[in-house]
This record gives sequence, C-alpha cells and structure tokens, in this order.
Amino acid sequence: MLPPPIRNPDVKYTQAFINNEYVNCVSGKTFPTINPTTKQKIADVQAGDKADVDIAVEAAKAAFKIGSEWRRMDASKRGVLLMKLADLIERDMSYIASLETTDNGKPYKNACGDVGFAIAIIRYYAGWADKISGKTIPINGDYFCYTRHEPVGICGQIVPWNYPFQLMFFKVAAALACGCVCVVKPAEQTPLTSLYAGSLIKEAGFPPGVVNIIPGDGPTAGVAITHHPDVNKVSFTGSTEVGQLIMQASGMSNLKRTSLELGGKSPNIVFGDVDLDAAVAWSHAAVMENMGQCCVAGTRTFVHESIYDEFVKKSASMASNRVVGDPFDETTQNGPQIDDVQFGKILDLIESGKKEGAKVECGGEKIGDKGYYIQPTVFSNVQDNMRIAKEEIFGPVQQILKFSDEDEVIERANNTHYGLGAAVFTNDINRALKFASSLQAGSVWVNCNLAVSAQGPFGGFKMSGMGRELGEYGLEEYLEVKNVVIKIPQKNS
Ligand code: NAI
Ligand code: MG
Repeated sequence: MLPPPIRNPDVKYTQAFINNEYVNCVSGKTFPTINPTTKQKIADVQAGDKADVDIAVEAAKAAFKIGSEWRRMDASKRGVLLMKLADLIERDMSYIASLETTDNGKPYKNACGDVGFAIAIIRYYAGWADKISGKTIPINGDYFCYTRHEPVGICGQIVPWNYPFQLMFFKVAAALACGCVCVVKPAEQTPLTSLYAGSLIKEAGFPPGVVNIIPGDGPTAGVAITHHPDVNKVSFTGSTEVGQLIMQASGMSNLKRTSLELGGKSPNIVFGDVDLDAAVAWSHAAVMENMGQCCVAGTRTFVHESIYDEFVKKSASMASNRVVGDPFDETTQNGPQIDDVQFGKILDLIESGKKEGAKVECGGEKIGDKGYYIQPTVFSNVQDNMRIAKEEIFGPVQQILKFSDEDEVIERANNTHYGLGAAVFTNDINRALKFASSLQAGSVWVNCNLAVSAQGPFGGFKMSGMGRELGEYGLEEYLEVKNVVIKIPQKNS
C-alpha cells in the first residue's frame, strides 16, 4: 500500500545546500521550476554558478581533509549513517514522492517506486561501507605488500530530470559508502527533491561538507564542476552529447575520473515461441514506462514475422488503452513529458516517422494544451534507417520492426552506436544463451525488461557510456587502489 499523496506539497527548500546549510547563491539569481502537468511555475530556485561550485568544492575539500571527522569516522559508522538516511527517506516518502510528481510529472505511484528504489540502494551500499577491503599480495623479495581501496575524493555528480531523486542516490550512496564527499548538481527541470534530500542528509548526521547540492544549469553550474581542478571524479547521467563534453572537460582540466551513463536505443527482440500477451505487455512497458523518458527504454521492438501482425495489433490496443492523465490519480499510467524542449523533440520525431513511411497504429499526437502530454504511440512498418529507429526519442513511442532469422536480428540489434540495454523473448534456452552473449549492451534481459536492481551493475557499452553504477561494480568508480610495500627486515641482512 502506498502512502497517500500530498497534492500541492509545500516547497521547503529552494536554496543551495552547502556545509549542511541552505544558502543563497552568490549571484542572487534564480530560475523557475515548472510543473509539467500545468506548465505553471512551482517555485523560484537559486541558480548556482561557478562561484557557488567553488564554495561547495571548498566545503567538500575541508570535509575530506586528512584527520577530519569524516576521514576518521569508522567505516561501519558510515554504514550506520546511510541506514539512518534510508529510514528518514522512508519516513518522508509521501512528501518526497509528491514533490517529485509535482516537479517532474511522473505518476505518484511511480514516484513512490523511485523513492523506494533509492531507499533500497542506500541500504545496499550501507552494508558495503565496512566491507570494502584490499588484498595482501605475495610480491618477490622480503616485503609485505598490501592494497588499500581509498575514496577517490571530491565527486561531482550531475543528475538528469527523468529519475531525479533515485539517480541522485545511485551516485551519492555509492560515494558515501566509499568515504567520498559529493557536490551534486540536480537537473534544472527537477531540483526540488534533491534539495529536500539535503535536510535529511543533515538530520541523519553526516558532517558538514560531505554532501553539497548546487541547483543550476548545465552550461554554468555543470561546467564549473566538470572543469574544476579540485574535483577528483565526475559521475554523469544524461545525453550522449553532454557526456562527450564531460570527457573533454576532464581531459582539459585535471583528468578527473569520469563515469558516464548516457543515451540508448535498446533492442527488444520477440520470437514466436513465447507467451504472446506477456511479451506484448513487457515490450509495451519497456517503452512506455516513465512516459518513455528512460535511458534504457526498449524502443526498437523487433518482432518475428510469424507473430508480427498479431503483435502489432495487441501492442496498439494496449497503447491506446494506456491511461494518460493527472499524475496524482491512482489509475494514471502516463503523465506529461518533462518540458517544452522534450515535447517538441518527440513530436518532431513522430512527424519524421510519418513522413518516412512508418505506419501510425495508434497515437501520434499531443493531448490538449494544459500540460506536455503526448499520446502513447505505436509505429509499425518501421525500417532500420528511419530516424525513429535510430535516434533516442525519450517519449512514449514504440517502433515495431519485423525480422525473420536469428543472425539477421542480432546484426540489426547491434547496428547502433548505443549499447545500454537489450531484451530477448524466447522459450528456447539455446537461443536465449546465444543472444545473451551476442547482444552488445550493458544489460541483457531474457523474458523481462528494465530489471534494474541495487545489487546488479548498470551501465553501457559503446556510446551509452563508461563505468558502472550499482552493485559491487559501482563501488569501483569511487575508489582508488593504493599499493603499499613494507620492507621486512631479515635477521642476517
Ligand atoms: P542533458 O544531458 O543536457 O542534461 C542532463 C544533466 O546534465 C542536467 O543536470 C544538465 O543540467 C547537465 N548538463 C547539461 N549540459 C552540461 C554541460 N555542458 N556540462 C555539465 N553538465 C551539463 O540532457 P537534456 O538536455 O535534459 O536531454 C536531452 C536528451 O538527453 C534527452 O532527450 C534524452 O535523449 C537524453 N537524456 C538521457 C538521460 C539518461 O537517463 N541517460 C537523462 C536525460 C536525458
Ligand atoms: Mg540540455
């Protein structure tokens, strides 16, 4: 049972969070954050820029200084603080989820799911805090050699707007478990839940400066983080274009460690030997969840010719029955898209699909003018070279392509610069194994989709990114390996 939502939740924090205090930005400038359901302003938020990032980095640096409270804290205590933070988030779930729904437009029940996932991730990494250890290594000679896995230091964490609260904790929970300190920049579209999280981080007992949160734009606050000479690592989730800029910034500044989780155009392959209704439902969810604003969305639905027509018919019926409306309504499955830019981009891609000869089976239009609503859309007769089959749409738009044999579809599925997710639906174990090893993607799902967990790694092949988040692999991004060698004196030498 979900906690009841709070419509029009109070906005408690709109200032930057530095050293465990909420402060105005140096410039005094603000930006509005908009409710995409109504296009109305929710609040004016402080617009962080380079000067604010500099202050936040100084705060983080002081918190990370050798001998500081945070550096001397027992690893187990870091775990205890993370557990406390998870409990506080759970306490405030309905408020946080309601604020997320207001700022982002996602259905309240999905926002609760996101908050629940953040809690699971924090608890998972809390358990790791005192289990991060090095090795002893038998090197040649009279030496004692061991490794220490040390925190990488000051981490710039740049978060997008599609899963604002949850993705902040993909990054922050792993960093804190490792003993790092953070400067977080939420997306300009959705700063409110991250800013609220600051108050809970303080309440949980993290020392000042361990987590700092600077709201603001990418080209100002984001760039200041990625070019900062004292930021040791940047973790980014967002567009591939900005991911490339972030790699450049790292190279041009101080070679900060960089992990990137970027765009995708994930294949979702359906063979004829499956439970058709289940495969239709999974494939529908893979592209419609979160209004299609999901990096790993299974947007290229490849369907075997033996079931193609029936699959298309059922998918169109499912999409046209998808409930689009007020995100606070319990029955709503899709709310609005995030903003006018994304709204325009999606409609433009839908038009390109129509022009290039794909067939609209349902949807294909915006809904009203009150919010950024788009009809769940299904295209059939999609060809691999159409824009809708190549570009990330980030909207509720499914492309159904036809295939006839295994090797053909593997080649077509892999024929993209992206490699984030891939799914295959089949009841043939040999085929499932062949696809699991042949598909070029950071996650391969068999007979399911979007099965992301706190424990398993998540990230991309090719231009979908580098590095992994979540699971044990996610820790590596926040650790440096130090090799220590000690001479062992021998009796007669
Ligand atoms: P974006 O990549 O511009 O924004 C993501 C984050 O990066 C935001 O916090 C933004 O302020 C920041 N940012 C922007 N430019 C920056 C820069 N030069 N340096 C440092 N930080 C910067 O994504 P946008 O414009 O919101 O969406 C564009 C497309 O990106 C979407 O249509 C979608 O295709 C993709 N996208 C992918 C996401 C994912 O989960 N991998 C999330 C959001 C968008
Ligand atoms: Mg942008």
